Amino acid sequence: MGRAALDLSRVPFKQLASGARMPAIGLGTFGSDRYSGREIARAVRSAAETGYRHFDCAAVYGNEAHVGAALRDVMATGIAREELWVTSKLWNDSHAENAVIPACERSLRDLGLEYLDLYLIHWPFPNHHAPGARVTDRHQGAKPYLHDAYMKTWRQLEKLVERGLVKHIGTSNTTAPKLELLLRDAEIKPAANEMELHPHFQQPELFDFVVERGLVPIGFSPIGSPNRPERDKTESDTVAIQDPVIVRIAEQRGVHPAVVCLKWGVGRGQVPIPFSVNPDQQRASLHALTTDPLSEKEMQAIAGIDQNCRLIKGQVFLWREGQDWQDLWDPDGYITT
Ligand SMILES: NC(=O)c1ccc[n+]([C@@H]2O[C@H](COP(=O)([O-])OP(=O)(O)OC[C@H]3O[C@@H](n4cnc5c(N)ncnc54)[C@H](OP(=O)(O)O)[C@@H]3O)[C@@H](O)[C@H]2O)c1
Repeated sequence: MGRAALDLSRVPFKQLASGARMPAIGLGTFGSDRYSGREIARAVRSAAETGYRHFDCAAVYGNEAHVGAALRDVMATGIAREELWVTSKLWNDSHAENAVIPACERSLRDLGLEYLDLYLIHWPFPNHHAPGARVTDRHQGAKPYLHDAYMKTWRQLEKLVERGLVKHIGTSNTTAPKLELLLRDAEIKPAANEMELHPHFQQPELFDFVVERGLVPIGFSPIGSPNRPERDKTESDTVAIQDPVIVRIAEQRGVHPAVVCLKWGVGRGQVPIPFSVNPDQQRASLHALTTDPLSEKEMQAIAGIDQNCRLIKGQVFLWREGQDWQDLWDPDGYITT
């Protein structure tokens, strides 16, 4: 893509049930073990300069202090806090009732912010591991999803909203049966669900469930995470940006296949959060939203290439010997215990 002017007024927003408006694309900040905090900070600065206003962060990415330094620089250029959308996530080691508020305060301190726009429970399990753990590593004392325990954690997130530290709360890596219980029991309903979404993993049932219940679907790994850590790759994984349908549409439009994945995601109604440290890629990804949406026919062609290929399987969070990673995702429609 050349340096044609980006019409930032055309970057769409997604309206939440609260009426708040989330920029319809965000920058991912997980360095996939490849990029240092400083490089991620540079990526945040260049993305903001390009026109990104939405940043997807998490305590476990280990770089929130660097992202915070970048956000301070961004705001020093005259971009108001209210123009930004910053998400962070509660890591699995801080689900205990007395750990949630301190964990959020730590993220706020690191990010240099007085409030978060969205705070997610990163995974619905309190099982954790050291950064870079092998997929065979397990947390001693790992547990299945326990709804009562999850609700205790959720109540603390509700307190964060009541205290004004967080505007919205939500879920990530969850399933429809778990969400069903949360929607039944929550006083403050989840505003969004962050889930893996790309042309080879479209999750149509969960996607429809989330939308019907009024949550915004945020799509992580929207390009199919071609550079995810080696530990997250298996032989049967497929590659969305090499799919002949994606490649054909990209060639016809003269864009990179990644751009087609993003156009598809936004056209379908999810909020993609692509990662890139490369300013030209960041620009091309933003441009994907401000120009030529995919046609009905192209959208349908991509709907037909779903491979049900989950890339982020979550093996390290399993709680029983000999278990299959599918158990984390409630494949039978009820919560696996
Ligand atoms: N909630 C969760 O549990 C969870 C899990 C995973 C990810 N996430 C979030 O989602 C974000 C994105 O996911 P991800 O990093 O796994 O994967 P992704 O965004 O699907 O893929 C990122 C890769 O795509 C390539 N790319 C990006 N923009 C491009 C463009 N315009 N043209 C060509 N190639 C482009 C880059 O590859 P090159 O480096 O080769 O150029 C980049 O490394 C993360 O950073 C994180 O914030 C959340």
